[in-house]
Parts: sequence; structure tokens; C-alpha cells
Amino acid sequence: MLILRDSDLERIVPMRDAIEAVEGAFGKLAQGLAQMPERTMMTVRGGCILQMPCHIEGLGIATTKIVSVYPENPRRGLPTTPAWIVVNDAETGVVKALLEATYLTALRTGAVTAVAAKYLAPRDSRVAAIIGCGYQGRFQAWALTEAFKLQTLLAYDISRERRRRFVEEMGGQLGIDVLEAGSGAEAVRDADIVVTATTSKEPVIHREYLGDEVHISAIGSFQPDHRELDTETIREAKLVVDKRDAALREAGDILIPIAEGAITPDHIYAELGELVLGLKPGRVEGDGLTVFKSVGLAIQDAAVAHLALRRWRESLE
Ligand SMILES: NC(=O)c1ccc[n+]([C@@H]2O[C@H](COP(=O)([O-])OP(=O)(O)OC[C@H]3O[C@@H](n4cnc5c(N)ncnc54)[C@H](O)[C@@H]3O)[C@@H](O)[C@H]2O)c1
Repeated sequence: MLILRDSDLERIVPMRDAIEAVEGAFGKLAQGLAQMPERTMMTVRGGCILQMPCHIEGLGIATTKIVSVYPENPRRGLPTTPAWIVVNDAETGVVKALLEATYLTALRTGAVTAVAAKYLAPRDSRVAAIIGCGYQGRFQAWALTEAFKLQTLLAYDISRERRRRFVEEMGGQLGIDVLEAGSGAEAVRDADIVVTATTSKEPVIHREYLGDEVHISAIGSFQPDHRELDTETIREAKLVVDKRDAALREAGDILIPIAEGAITPDHIYAELGELVLGLKPGRVEGDGLTVFKSVGLAIQDAAVAHLALRRWRESLE
């Protein structure tokens, strides 16, 4: 059986291709061409473990990702979000590959931010801010520089050491100005695009931190009682989610404002796939805040697993 490790995949699967693959997957989802049973989440001692199955018509494979979220792992020298994907042949059901997917998970999560920002961010966005300078934060920054002609990226993390390391590493890699901010408010003050990629349970963004025309991609929280955005930001924003039912099950960013009576579920304007298919417009004249809330979908994993297997075959030719 084929087993590919992160180190193999880092060499052959670039962000640009992942963005295209993930956008295609959201289109298929909105057309009803993807099966995605509800993911399971098991809370274990130091974190939680999720199982995410999926089949997208036409890819020839079905995938199941097992991904853990253990926020204390960096202290052990391990990633917070380690993952593997089991790949079944869609014709025979036989398992045909095992892909280490810590890299692929971060890649597809960066990719979905780029896809959403393409439809929702202010035209000519030049300044971006990343809150959360961990593993996902690096891929979020990479994805944004693929999709926009950014000039400046501001970075903030509650850990000074992590934000310093991020600024040192990413400045060289991205080829744009990457600057350290002393607070979340400072990081986002002049930003056109803001990404939150933290393990925080409490809001890291408050409405008053932000300018008037800003797109926010909130990818960090995925539990009903955790959130990265405050109620006012959500209430004011044109709100797009990866999938309605998943967001209304898992996204504290939305569920807490609903519980407070600040919004109703109808406040969700669209699923990302509806924007991809052109069924609803993204940002239009007069839109101020836009928010894309991602809890993470198995279609993203299936899309990048399919891409990874194709790129692997091509690398052998
Ligand atoms: N939406 C998705 O599809 C998706 C995919 C992968 C991971 N995630 C989530 O993204 C989050 C980050 O994952 P990671 O692998 O980058 O973890 P990580 O531990 O590498 O990075 C998280 C960073 O957030 C910082 N942080 C925590 N609280 C903060 C606060 N209040 N203000 C500023 N910074 C703060 C931490 O110091 C850390 O550097 C996790 O919660 C994970 O579950 C979501």
C-alpha cells in the first residue's frame, strides 16, 4: 500500500493547486455531488480526536481523515493538529493509500481562506493580519499571498516568542513585509483581510478593533462554546460559512450570538459553495464587514488527497 509522509507531500503539493482543488470541491458540494456524513468528535484527555469521512463524485476515491487537536502538543514538540487520511478506492472499497495529513490539513485550511477571500475580501486588499502564529497561521499567510498582491502582513500571537519566530520565518518566505504587532487590536487596525487561527476559547477580535471594510476568515474554533470573534463583529457582518448545518452544530462564533439573542440562524447569508457556483454574490458595493467562518469540512481533505495522489503519480513519470 502507498504510504506518503508529510515530508513527501510538502515537496509535491503546492498551495496554488490546493486552492483550485478546494474551490472545485465546494462547487461539487453545492451541486449535491459530495457525501459527507457528520464527523465524530471524541474528547480525550488532552484534546479531541475527529473522524471525517467523505466521497466526492468523480474523484475515484473516498477518504476518511483522523485528525486530533491537542493545544498543548507544541510543548511536547508535536503539532497541535496532527492528522492522517485513509484513502479507499471508490470502485472496490479497498484501502489504497495512507497519507500523513498534518501538512495537507494546514494546506487545505489555508486554501479555503483564499477561496472565501477571493469572493468576499475588499478588491485590491493590500494589508492582511494573522492572529495566531502557529502552524495554521503560516499556511493562512501563504494562501493569502497566493491569492492577493499583499504588501504588508501583521502578525500577533499571545506568545511573544511564537510571533517573533513567525515574523522571522515568514518575512523571508513570503517576500512581503511581515511585521510583529504588540496586540490583536494593533495587528488588525489597518487590515483589509484578517485571519484568526488560534486555539483561543474567547474572542480575539472585537468589532471596535476593525476598520469599516474588512474581510475576516475565522478558522480556529470548532466547538460550540469556543469562539474567536465577538458578538458585534458577527452581528454586523455579512456571514458566510463552509456548511450551514456544521456551523450551527460546532461554531461557537455563531452559536453564542444566537444564544444571546443577537442573531438568528437566518443571519447566515450563504455557504461558500453558493458563492463559488455564482448562486449568490460575494462582496458587493456597500458591504462593510464580511466574515467567513470555517469549522473545516471533509470535502477539503478529499480534494487535497486526490490532488496529492495525482501529483505523486506525476512525480514518478
Ligand atoms: N477550520 C479548520 O478547518 C481548521 C483546520 C485545522 C486547524 N484548525 C484549528 O486551528 C487552530 C490552530 O491550530 P494550529 O495547528 O495552528 O495550532 P498551534 O498551536 O500551532 O497555533 C495556535 C496559536 O494560537 C495562539 N493563541 C492561542 N490563544 C491566543 C490568543 N488569545 N490570542 C492570540 N493567539 C493565541 C497560540 O499561542 C498558538 O501559537 C486550532 O484550534 C485548530 O483546531 C481549524
